[in-house]
Amino acid sequence: MHVLETKRLILSRFTLKDAPFILELLNDPGWIRFIGDKKVRTLKAAKEYIRNGPQKSYAQLGFGLYAVKLKRSGRTIGMCGLLRRDTLDDADIGFAFLPRYTGKGYAFESSAAILDDAHESWGMKRILAITSADNERSGRLLERLGSRYLKRICFTPGAEELKLFEKKKAGSSHTRKK
Ligand SMILES: CC(C)(COP(=O)(O)OP(=O)(O)OC[C@H]1O[C@@H](n2cnc3c(N)ncnc32)[C@H](O)[C@@H]1OP(=O)(O)O)[C@@H](O)C(=O)NCCC(=O)NCCS
Repeated sequence: MHVLETKRLILSRFTLKDAPFILELLNDPGWIRFIGDKKVRTLKAAKEYIRNGPQKSYAQLGFGLYAVKLKRSGRTIGMCGLLRRDTLDDADIGFAFLPRYTGKGYAFESSAAILDDAHESWGMKRILAITSADNERSGRLLERLGSRYLKRICFTPGAEELKLFEKKKAGSSHTRKK
């Protein structure tokens, strides 16, 4: 199911056919370093991840992490979307791309569409993001998207310290004359 379209990209719901892509992305060194090792090592485990992660979120919330595809080739190059965690007051944006597709503005293009959609279609006034303290690339991307760094947080005592960002819905840039 196509959810959003941008100039170069299509964002759609993950299906079990995306298992090979998930297996590759979740074992990429960048994912493991900055997001964590989900220990997804087989196609079977990748299908479980899709069922228990993105697909569960679509069923429960109507949104979730989406597959990002290139319009030109139809190839899946990354994931981007919203998560809702018990540990945060508002939804947060997540993104990750295969390394051969970074440095081309695709993460920015898909994230901007997700944030607009969160404001416009889902009525969210504030969207959060969390990154590892040393994930400077993500921090730069978030700031370019209009998010601002808020503070460091720890989900559980002794756990890794993370950076928390927020993006508020922009106020109207004009006033309507009566
Ligand atoms: C974080 C991550 C998604 C950022 O990806 P990215 O491709 O660098 O992000 P952007 O889409 O903003 O691309 C910006 C780069 O594209 C370049 N670019 C090229 N064409 C562009 C275009 N048309 N529009 C915008 N930028 C363009 C920019 O100059 C910039 O290059 P630079 O990094 O050399 O300065 C990626 O590094 C990643 O997947 N990391 C591993 C997982 C991860 O850390 N996820 C986040 C956890 S919080």
